[in-house]
Amino acid sequence: MKPALKILLLGKNGQVGWELQRSLAVLGQLTALDRHSSDYCGDLNQLDGLADTVRRLHPDVIVNAAAHTAVDRAESEPELARTLNALAPGVLATEAEKLGAWLVHYSTDYVFDGSGNQPWRETDSPAPLSVYGRSKLEGEQRIQATCSKHLIFRTSWVYAARGGNFAKTMLRLARERTQLTVIDDQIGAPTGAELLADVTALALRSAMAAPALAGIYHLAAAGQTSWHGYARYVLSLAQQAGVALKAGPDAVEAVPTTAFPTPAKRPHNSRLDTHKLQAAFGLTLPDWQDGVARMLNETLPTP
Ligand SMILES: NC(=O)c1ccc[n+]([C@@H]2O[C@H](COP(=O)([O-])OP(=O)(O)OC[C@H]3O[C@@H](n4cnc5c(N)ncnc54)[C@H](OP(=O)(O)O)[C@@H]3O)[C@@H](O)[C@H]2O)c1
Repeated sequence: MKPALKILLLGKNGQVGWELQRSLAVLGQLTALDRHSSDYCGDLNQLDGLADTVRRLHPDVIVNAAAHTAVDRAESEPELARTLNALAPGVLATEAEKLGAWLVHYSTDYVFDGSGNQPWRETDSPAPLSVYGRSKLEGEQRIQATCSKHLIFRTSWVYAARGGNFAKTMLRLARERTQLTVIDDQIGAPTGAELLADVTALALRSAMAAPALAGIYHLAAAGQTSWHGYARYVLSLAQQAGVALKAGPDAVEAVPTTAFPTPAKRPHNSRLDTHKLQAAFGLTLPDWQDGVARMLNETLPTP
């Protein structure tokens, strides 16, 4: 009998990492770590420890869902962001290449400058606006330069049912206030961690059978909206479900990004063109509304 595939997952308690624990478990024997794990080092800030973990575990697949994702905080701690988002993926790539293992990694539309209104393709030139975006781009580049069997998924506007998220914040505010103000000049597609995890497992299975599929892919739900459109959609679903709100969808005022100054500059155009992924893996990505409705079904308070 063929031995079970050995999979190492880093960042098991993040939005995507949590869902990956479920989707990867069916592919093989999963060792899932976070930065506090004790048997093996899962801390991206300890580069030697990380390399040692890979050498001791000898995985066939490494999936890195850990990252410095605090976009604004990254502006004031660029070295930490670079270690976690660029140097650590580089170490994983080096160790994976030595073993002939696959490395799966996540990146972001923040590697682009957000100009224009066309969906970004994998071949478009990156030009990050923030420390976070630059550190994520360097992480991609280190993996591409070092590890032949890699899958890098650039995604956007990730949410999960577990923990806090934008939809839950809007619902809370709409129960407390009669008016909400939400940005309407950043455009993207809210993408569920569940979708990312399921597509990861499917793509990984295909790529292991056909290594020429290694590469970078844009992965986001279909369609597009603004944060304002997203908020309105959430409140209209909540209203339909009978949730008592002080502010309904029509009480959400649209404002420009400049109304909410933040330390990190964010792209206006976060649209990602997913044709390459859909063609390579024979997938059809669902509309962003499907996943948000599903997540709300699970989390909405009963009226
Ligand atoms: N969230 C988005 O909107 C978005 C958009 C585009 C791309 N992405 C990318 O998607 C991937 C997954 O993001 P996510 O949304 O799941 O983020 P998340 O929920 O913030 O999860 C990130 C995980 O990384 C962990 N982490 C932080 N510092 C660490 C360290 N030193 N060592 C080990 N683990 C550490 C965090 O642990 P603690 O909880 O202990 O800090 C957390 O569990 C990331 O690569 C991110 O860049 C995210």
